Amino acid sequence: MNSNIKIFVEDDYNTLSKKAAEIFACAVNRKPEGSFGFATGSTPLGMYDELKGMVKKSELNFTKINAYNLDEYYPIKGSDNQSYKYFMAANLFDEINLPKENRFIPNGEAPDPIKECVEYEEKVTKASIEMQILGIGNNGHIGFNEPADYFAGATNYVELAENTIEANARFFEKLEDVPRFALTMGIHSIMMAKSILLLASGEGKAQILKDSLFGKITPKVPASVLQLHCDVFIVADKAAAKYL
Ligand code: F6R
Repeated sequence: MNSNIKIFVEDDYNTLSKKAAEIFACAVNRKPEGSFGFATGSTPLGMYDELKGMVKKSELNFTKINAYNLDEYYPIKGSDNQSYKYFMAANLFDEINLPKENRFIPNGEAPDPIKECVEYEEKVTKASIEMQILGIGNNGHIGFNEPADYFAGATNYVELAENTIEANARFFEKLEDVPRFALTMGIHSIMMAKSILLLASGEGKAQILKDSLFGKITPKVPASVLQLHCDVFIVADKAAAKYL
């Protein structure tokens, strides 16, 4: 494994969230006017709660950062409570006083998804992200870069894998309601971040985490590309780190 990958194994989800928040807060404190990359999904929620707590205690200030999110369903209205725009506002941004003009996320309402991807990529490239938060899909996806025959470069318009749709159905009333397409930062967009903070929780992520960090680097396991990044933090609970 690449020695630039630092692995923190925590007892449980609670301590995982605290450790991840500590690492992220340190990066924000170092660059309080920098750009940072955010993820949705269940895994970062505990860390987001920790960060909110730090802001309340005035230990951390997010008001000057620029936030870039990994992905968004397509098509979806920003006001839809299933959109990632809504998720980030409700679970973090509104509570840390992040100005609306500092929030960037692929636009799920854009009339032309391809054009939107090109424009979002330009923004991300210019932003030069300090630290990108990632979760990991059961199939090794990062962002919505699903297992494929090649690593997608830039922000792109993708069809979600069947097992991702099934995994995400837990947030929707029924499976058919889960959008089938998304806009996502590409693998190259993610790899451009100066550092990466990947969170993994639960036994369900154990095998894919091992394959990603110790297996072959292949687009069939998109997260395996992180072995080529020069500054990666993995924060996993014991269950997810079972095979490490
Ligand atoms: C979220 C994202 C996804 C999730 C992944 C894991 O913005 O891009 O790659 O990080 O699906 O999701 P959870 O954390 O719900 O297991």
